[in-house]
Amino acid sequence: MQIREARIEDAAGACHTLRRSIAELCGLDHGGDPDVLERWLASKTPKTLAAWIANPANRVLVAEEDGAILAVGAVTAAGEITLNYVSPDARFRGVSSALLRRLERGARALGNTACSLTSSQTAHRFYLARGYVDAGEIPGKFGTARSFVMTKQLAHED
Ligand SMILES: CC(C)(COP(=O)(O)OP(=O)(O)OC[C@H]1O[C@@H](n2cnc3c(N)ncnc32)[C@H](O)[C@@H]1OP(=O)(O)O)[C@@H](O)C(=O)NCCC(=O)NCCS
Repeated sequence: MQIREARIEDAAGACHTLRRSIAELCGLDHGGDPDVLERWLASKTPKTLAAWIANPANRVLVAEEDGAILAVGAVTAAGEITLNYVSPDARFRGVSSALLRRLERGARALGNTACSLTSSQTAHRFYLARGYVDAGEIPGKFGTARSFVMTKQLAHED
């Protein structure tokens, strides 16, 4: 498995992984409600992914293995982690942990001393275990019940 910068030609594969991750792993958030899921997935198209990858204000990374995209993540120039989605086929193999470390390293390279994110209910425990602290609970997007605003101070040596 390697983690690398996403390229425009990754857009379709990254989109497929992102959509499967939301639909198949984030049941705690969408509760299997087709309307919530439809709203959540509406903007997750290859075209949108290509635009995110092309936008210089984002750093989009993919985890790739044998030509398959296992996960996609993104961080903004301001240190906000906006994507971190793993394929159901690669869950609990350390992929998101490795991707998150790389996103944080990228944020620090851009001069940030902290990262922020809005966590799904699904990933809340994962982020707590990786040093993020709760800064508040907000109503979820797309009709999901709640999300967690979280922050983490970045250590110098990571
Ligand atoms: C939770 C999730 C982010 C973890 O990613 P992963 O690549 O599977 O996880 P890793 O193998 O790197 O790390 C495993 C960690 O997941 C967490 N975890 C373990 N079981 C879990 C479960 N049933 N549900 C949620 N998290 C769990 C633990 O923190 C575990 O770490 P530990 O083994 O040190 O205790 C991922 O499985 C997931 O569900 N993603 C869905 C998309 C999503 O919600 N993304 C975040 C958007 S803000």
